[in-house]
Amino acid sequence: MEDLGFDSLMLQELEVNIGRRAPGFRAEELFTPGLTIGRLIALAGGDDAVTPDPAPVHSAPAPLEESFPLAGPPRWGADTASVDAFPEVTRFEERLEEVTRGAGSPYFRVHEGTVSDTTVIGGRPYLSFGSYNYLGISGHPAVNEAVHEAVDRYGTSVSASRVLSGERDLTVRLERALAGFLGVEDCLTLVSGHATNVTAIGHLVGPGDLVVHDALAHDSILQGCALSGAARRPFAHNDTGRLEQMLRLNRSRFRRVLIAVEGAYSMDGDLVDLPAVIELKKRYGALLMVDEAHSIGTVGERGRGVGEFYGVDRSDVDLWMGTLSKAFAGCGGYLGGSARMVRWLRHTLPGFVYSVGMTPPNAAAALAATELIVAEPDRVRALRRNSELFLGLAASAGLATGSSAGTPIVPCLLGDSARTLRVARGLFDRGVVADPIFHPAVEEGLSRLRFFITSAHREEDIRRAVALLAEEVAAAGT
Ligand SMILES: Cc1ncc(COP(=O)(O)O)c(C=O)c1O
Repeated sequence: MEDLGFDSLMLQELEVNIGRRAPGFRAEELFTPGLTIGRLIALAGGDDAVTPDPAPVHSAPAPLEESFPLAGPPRWGADTASVDAFPEVTRFEERLEEVTRGAGSPYFRVHEGTVSDTTVIGGRPYLSFGSYNYLGISGHPAVNEAVHEAVDRYGTSVSASRVLSGERDLTVRLERALAGFLGVEDCLTLVSGHATNVTAIGHLVGPGDLVVHDALAHDSILQGCALSGAARRPFAHNDTGRLEQMLRLNRSRFRRVLIAVEGAYSMDGDLVDLPAVIELKKRYGALLMVDEAHSIGTVGERGRGVGEFYGVDRSDVDLWMGTLSKAFAGCGGYLGGSARMVRWLRHTLPGFVYSVGMTPPNAAAALAATELIVAEPDRVRALRRNSELFLGLAASAGLATGSSAGTPIVPCLLGDSARTLRVARGLFDRGVVADPIFHPAVEEGLSRLRFFITSAHREEDIRRAVALLAEEVAAAGT
């Protein structure tokens, strides 16, 4: 499976399809690394056990009179006629019960104010490492004031697609500010970061094309691939050798090849090797998209992302994508690049043209945030100092931080989900919020607590949090 480049989503799809053809197929072993095709056939009960697919999903519909016989039992299962009856709903409920049994759910906790270095839950103050308010700008008085003014002037919605009656000067100014910040010719903003990836990838490539992406790619990139109809192949995380091999073997078999990488990886907290990826993009005539959701505002001397960090020529990346929900204290996504490309997207990108424009408060927040990051460069420096301090202390305490480096994301790898949950609960009881991450967000056996560091954290709070974490990890056993 590793040789074929299967990731967990592809394995889940395989599980469903084999289960349909070989009833009783036990899927657990499908997810073990090193599984071979021979072993898979044996697991399915050998060649004999595999029956022809009884109901090809995409076959042509049966003639009307056959589909709806006037008499006899219905030809569909009850579990297909109501969402409540879907087998995956039952499976989900069993998993949820496992995670939330005992001391209460770590999900959907209600925060009672702005979350930055601290938060309040249930009337109790906590030290927070759970928000990506990296630069402490959400809740900043200047941003709040800009939002109030925007609402007073424009209301809370632009009430139309921007192409039609939804254009406002706030969004135009925001796009100019972002283009300047990134050092690109132009920039387009959309209402959601996730939807930005989905619609952009769905628009740029299609059947006959290929997307090669880092194995740790965010869900929005995978959804964009699915929408596009392009083939996709993941390459092992940050392994540019595997990427090169994939491009060498596949480039000439496809019309367009899009390489999709992230500036900073949100589960592992490491950076892409952008110069190496750019060299491969050029060598193999591929398109390159860099998702800077977690690197914009946080990486590089002035927070301008991995482009600044590596000092690359901005035109070497076709699409600089990012979100406004993290360092920029708002909500939305952006796509930056050449003026010609952005003009084309502005008039044709489905998720932009057929969707409402960003709300005035969000545009105002992101614009004020961009101006603050430029005016107060010390925020980015404080973030870097805090991130290095946290990582250094965690390493000294013998905690497993994986490949985290150069970003404000530090995971503490704990193995199985039960242990991860114990540590998360222990910390929460002692006043520290850090979110547990389980399969399928990360590989089975690589559950972790993830710490988002912010520029607002105080040195003593970071020291206290790492000390408490080390105690809880030791207490949770292996
Ligand atoms: C790499 C990456 N891309 C895209 C997104 C989606 O952004 P948003 O949450 O702003 O919709 C996220 C969200 O965390 C992300 O981590």
